[in-house]
Amino acid sequence: MKTGIAAAVFSGIAFLCLVYSCAKDQGLNPDLAFSDRALYDSCRNIPAFSYYKNDPAAVYSGVHGPHGAFKLRFNKTAYAALTDNGKLPAAKTFPDGSLIVKDIQSNGQYALMYKKKGNWLWAEINADGSVAFSTTKEPTATCISCHSQSGQRDLAVSFAFY
Ligand code: HEC
Repeated sequence: MKTGIAAAVFSGIAFLCLVYSCAKDQGLNPDLAFSDRALYDSCRNIPAFSYYKNDPAAVYSGVHGPHGAFKLRFNKTAYAALTDNGKLPAAKTFPDGSLIVKDIQSNGQYALMYKKKGNWLWAEINADGSVAFSTTKEPTATCISCHSQSGQRDLAVSFAFY
């Protein structure tokens, strides 16, 4: 009888340790989910996206920006916010988890914005996964200053031009 109780207590403790260590692994570095590598993988998961105005063939000139011709797509979370004729309504913001990807036609680079806790992460990741501009870099001068131009909606500027 005693050994039965001991075994029950022991397996209970073992189970709790297992639950704790699993939770701990996930909790160790939640920011890994927002690393350049993770966002690169997300960018390449094309079925998770919808193209701007639901038009996968559309290539935009990009004459107003630094990247040249591009395609534009949104993950499901971001796309659900585009309720004003395919655009984000003025004065609205994208929810956390929104991912906007600009597919640069000349070199296959992904320019991206990812919404985390109310702020955008900004990155440029090359087709081979090498990083041109990391999410860990300070984006104010490089990205945000230009994206703050008039006509922007939650710092997204394509809606003003296309
Ligand atoms: C000189 C101005 C300028 C700079 C600097 C700039 N962008 Fe943009 N960006 C634009 C414009 C304009 C567009 C709209 C599409 C176009 O015409 O290229 C755009 C579009 C985008 C989009 C599609 C969503 C949207 O806003 O329409 C992403 C993603 C993006 N840029 C990422 C970046 C990142 C990341 C950086 C910094 C590494 C950056 N941009 C720097 C001007 C700029």
